[in-house]
Amino acid sequence: PSDRRTAVAHPNIALIKYWGKRDERLAVPNVDSLSMTLDVFPTTTTVRLDPASGTDGVTLDGTPAAGEPRRRVVAFLDLLRELSGRAEPAAVDTRNTVPTGAGLASSASGFAALAVAGAAAYGLDLDPTALSRLARRGSVSAARSIFAAFAVCHAGRGSGAAADLGSHAEPLDVPEFDPALVIALVDTGPKTVSSRAAMRRTVATSPLYGAWAASAGADLADMRAALRRGDLAAVGEIAERNSLGMHATMLAARPAVRYLSPATLAVLDGVLRLRRDGVPAYATMDAGPNVKVLCHPRDAARVGAAVREAAPGCATVTARRGPGARLTAG
Ligand code: DP6
Repeated sequence: PSDRRTAVAHPNIALIKYWGKRDERLAVPNVDSLSMTLDVFPTTTTVRLDPASGTDGVTLDGTPAAGEPRRRVVAFLDLLRELSGRAEPAAVDTRNTVPTGAGLASSASGFAALAVAGAAAYGLDLDPTALSRLARRGSVSAARSIFAAFAVCHAGRGSGAAADLGSHAEPLDVPEFDPALVIALVDTGPKTVSSRAAMRRTVATSPLYGAWAASAGADLADMRAALRRGDLAAVGEIAERNSLGMHATMLAARPAVRYLSPATLAVLDGVLRLRRDGVPAYATMDAGPNVKVLCHPRDAARVGAAVREAAPGCATVTARRGPGARLTAG
């Protein structure tokens, strides 16, 4: 039946990071960001309207969700009900393909899949821009996973409804640029601090945050030009400096937020050794100790081996540019 829809979405990795919101309720980011959607670790989500049930049902990898994960999904369903003018509760079933406990569980693929499946189940006919705006309300990074390959997410201008309208991702047309991203699974434990809480603390207390946010505009302009040229070395250098700058703002927060572990730093040393040996390889880190290494596809095997040597016990997965979120037949 038409009130049961399934969608699949993939995670994305930001080369220009989003960190910090200017409106928490509407999930409006402080800065523009730019990412690559991956071809690994898809999330598949089914939304079924369930009028007979008195309440929303949320299942994550076969287990009923509770606490914060459940609260975020129910808040998103409330938004779908508000937009569609409908009142039915829903049953949401989400399946991730990230290896269990790999610490990569992605709110980006999760809320992109939920936005696409949920909009269809509630009968909302939204174009990709509107789907991206909607996914942003679940998690800002999810706005970018609506689109394949490279996407820019606009922070929008102003406040309130105007900010909401202007803040969404759009695809970036760079068909020739097709790098590899070697993901180093440095640590498989759960996060010490959620990215949501960490960015709130950073914005509120870090004296470096304003400077990083101000420099992000120049990073984005430089990144766009480097992508247009297909210049892997420039793309990598800009991504690396943008990520390290973001982590510097966190380290200066009070109290400090530190996601980088000794194994992260060992991988970063390995990346520097690769560059010294003439292999273009560049690192970017998000709200956790895992490292994503951007490189030429022909170097991916060598980069993976160097990473595993630098951090013994660390597994690697090589990703390429992947598809946007879409409904499936099922
Ligand atoms: C470091 O999008 O997960 O990965 O909007 O609060 O859900 P919420 O945060 P989230 O933060 C991602 C932060 C990042 C950088 C990025 O992906 O741009």
